[in-house]
Amino acid sequence: MSSKITIAIDGFSSTGKSTLAKQLASQLGYVYVDTGAMYRAITLFAMQNGYIADGFFDKESLRHSLPYIRLQFQFKPELGFAVMILNDVDVEKEIRSIEVSSFVSKVAELAEVRQKLVEQQQEMGKNKGIVMDGRDIGTVVFPDAELKIYMTASAATRAQRRYDELVAKGDSVSYDEVFNNVVERDYIDTHRDNSPLIKAADAIEIDNSNMTREEQLALVLDLVQKANS
Ligand code: DC
Repeated sequence: MSSKITIAIDGFSSTGKSTLAKQLASQLGYVYVDTGAMYRAITLFAMQNGYIADGFFDKESLRHSLPYIRLQFQFKPELGFAVMILNDVDVEKEIRSIEVSSFVSKVAELAEVRQKLVEQQQEMGKNKGIVMDGRDIGTVVFPDAELKIYMTASAATRAQRRYDELVAKGDSVSYDEVFNNVVERDYIDTHRDNSPLIKAADAIEIDNSNMTREEQLALVLDLVQKANS
């Protein structure tokens, strides 16, 4: 019988990490955790409380509020995944808006924010049987994960995916706005001092620019089997 492992998936925004992670979790009976949703929820909290407005960011107030921010994932069988609950309110839709996307990298730079979220993520994964996606999962959160995947795809491919997603949800955005946001977030995520996005030495890189979801899933399920044997 195979035992449960920890699967860490890192990579740039819109590389399809969450699609892959959700598929894996459902095939393997594992828990899926989208850590980007946690950084997004803290960003939304900061916006709701006026700590972020008109390009202004009151980091000190956010730092002081951190003990009062409670994040939970609630599994919704009808959706097949867990939604983000911020202080008892379902914020799954709000955290995906372009406004949150355009500020989240700045919030994710704060050491206190990262410390709080990394602790919570490690607690969620302590019994293994988890697929977690983000930027620092294989390097910081679970450096001992049995399987680490590092996903890449061209910026244009990723911007098109995010644009299609937003338009399908009824958001009125332009492709250029989304492309610029992708490029800007790539830069901030890879250049910040605290836990920048880097490929862990033992991570397996997958460029899925020209891969179907099915091909990608088959490839990774094979890697899971190898990691387990
Ligand atoms: O995966 P995403 O695009 O929803 O992530 C939103 C932002 O959160 C991303 O720009 C960087 C940040 N993030 C992070 O710094 N560390 C993580 N583990 C996950 C996300």
